[in-house]
Amino acid sequence: MTKKSKILMNIIKAIQSRYSVRSYNGKTLTSADEKSLLNYISDESNMTGIYGNKISLQYKTVKNPNTNEKIKLGTYGIIKGHSAYIAGAVENNKEYMLDFGYVFEKLILFLTDKGIGTCWMAGTFDRKALNLIFPSDEGHIIPAMSPLGYPKKKTHLKDRTIRKLAGSDSRIDFDKLFYINDSKTPYNLDEFKEEFDMVRIGPSASNKQPWRFIVKESDIHIYLKRTPDYGAPLKLDVQMIDIGIALCHLDLVSKQNKKNYFFKSLSNEPIEVDETLEYIITYKKKI
Ligand SMILES: Cc1cc2nc3c(=O)[nH]c(=O)nc-3n(C[C@H](O)[C@H](O)[C@H](O)COP(=O)(O)O)c2cc1C
Repeated sequence: MTKKSKILMNIIKAIQSRYSVRSYNGKTLTSADEKSLLNYISDESNMTGIYGNKISLQYKTVKNPNTNEKIKLGTYGIIKGHSAYIAGAVENNKEYMLDFGYVFEKLILFLTDKGIGTCWMAGTFDRKALNLIFPSDEGHIIPAMSPLGYPKKKTHLKDRTIRKLAGSDSRIDFDKLFYINDSKTPYNLDEFKEEFDMVRIGPSASNKQPWRFIVKESDIHIYLKRTPDYGAPLKLDVQMIDIGIALCHLDLVSKQNKKNYFFKSLSNEPIEVDETLEYIITYKKKI
């Protein structure tokens, strides 16, 4: 359950500079940027998740180049000035949601590295309109999409309001997210400090940050602390997407730090935890 990352980018800088861009400057992507995005999404190795699922993404410009007509996805005025969208449909199950999170976040970091703005969106847009623009097979669902464009320096009012409502500028304390040996003792070693710092500043739906990591011996066990009833109206497991995003940050940073780890689902729960924690997967040291 692992693969080589061929992408060249400054991972730490991309993770640190990414934020949800909702105010864009109206300019279309340069042809060089458009080309590297299309190359990126056509490379299967970039589009494969940690469970091995292949994600297929489509890029659409807001303005149809042939008719000059504009796509309207109805984002309730939350997103302004973007020039394109990226989205893709997958089977609606937990493993696909995690893989979608992993693959889409890696793309988002790649775009951030190029100065292209993005915003994960799973809820605040018109899904009926999205399904018309990005048609998908029966039984498939588009977990999330992102507008694309170049960020505008001065953000619009709804953008600032959303950030405030979601508490987007703060994160849960480090010692309430990362543990050692059990689900109570805060992680206090240096070994994975940088990886965990980079997981912590990642995006999550409504900034709920439902990831919990427990290090035991040389392995990292990943758990989901669900927000009760969260995401039910969306009919998709949005917090599994959040886990995929966290695993993307963990994996890219640890690979950059030359750590030799891979993902493995253990058949027995590795640590005794209370019922608020759901075991997802383990990041295991290769020996
Ligand atoms: C899976 C997922 C779904 C999201 N859905 C929406 C959405 O529908 N609308 C929106 O404005 N922001 C959405 N966000 C953005 C989050 O609110 C944002 O990531 C979080 O508040 C942290 O802010 P930051 O991305 O600027 O660091 C979503 C984020 C994720 C990861």
